[in-house]
Amino acid sequence: MKRLKNKTVFVSGGLSGIGKACAIAAAREGANVVVGDIKSVNLDGAMKEIQAENESALFFECDVSDLASIGAAIDFTTEKFKTLDVALNNAGVGGDNTTVAEMTEEDWNSVLRVNLTGVFYCMKEELEPMISQKHGVIVNMASILGKVGFSGSSAYVAAKHGVLGLTKTAALEYAGTGIRVNAISPGFISTPLLTKGGINGNETAKQHIIGMHPLNRLGKPEEIADAFIFLASDESSFITGATLDVDGGYLSK
Ligand SMILES: NC(=O)c1ccc[n+]([C@@H]2O[C@H](COP(=O)([O-])OP(=O)(O)OC[C@H]3O[C@@H](n4cnc5c(N)ncnc54)[C@H](O)[C@@H]3O)[C@@H](O)[C@H]2O)c1
Repeated sequence: MKRLKNKTVFVSGGLSGIGKACAIAAAREGANVVVGDIKSVNLDGAMKEIQAENESALFFECDVSDLASIGAAIDFTTEKFKTLDVALNNAGVGGDNTTVAEMTEEDWNSVLRVNLTGVFYCMKEELEPMISQKHGVIVNMASILGKVGFSGSSAYVAAKHGVLGLTKTAALEYAGTGIRVNAISPGFISTPLLTKGGINGNETAKQHIIGMHPLNRLGKPEEIADAFIFLASDESSFITGATLDVDGGYLSK
């Protein structure tokens, strides 16, 4: 039995890494998937992988840090598929590796704009159809760094802490309206984000990061997708305001 059969699922940042794995898993579970992302070189390849699971999947070019752009993406989704059953707010960037004193205002703003304000903009637009239809599931992609600090990543850490606060508050505001709001906090997952952050290409840094996870490896995007499908489906019908840590034991130390 497909767990998201005929549901409409919107995934921000679905052309790469964790978002792409979640979009593929949702399509495999029978969902009509809309991927919202800034256009990238991955566009055709990623969409082919998602459409291989369910040919109804569509792409809409959008920037989560622009309210009008994300509004257009959600309008496109509801026009094409009539409802918005599940939204995964996953688009994110890493930012520079620098101390608080040395961080530029520009880097701070660019990380917060995508990783925190972008999640707020997405939720604001997604809640509108969900409130009217009286049901919906929102899943926000946070991080273990939404719960603990990490030297050199203050903007990212602050944004992800903010995402968890936003998740809990929206869960309370919409409890009883048929809308559930939860978050996933992945540990370090092998994706292009880690390559951009200099971790995948640097064996010493990679081994250091691996050693921070009691399961002694990096996570795989598909392992986050499994958690997403659980939170998106009725299997988690009594869960709202929660964070599912999928972190190889990172936060248990
Ligand atoms: N990889 C990890 O170790 C890890 C750990 C914890 C949390 N996360 C979070 O998971 C999410 C996905 O990360 P990933 O590792 O798959 O990264 P990734 O770089 O592989 O994918 C991120 C996607 O987001 C898109 N994106 C970036 N800015 C955007 C914008 N303004 N509007 C629309 N789309 C935009 C990119 O084009 C890309 O497709 C992020 O929120 C990240 O913070 C990642």
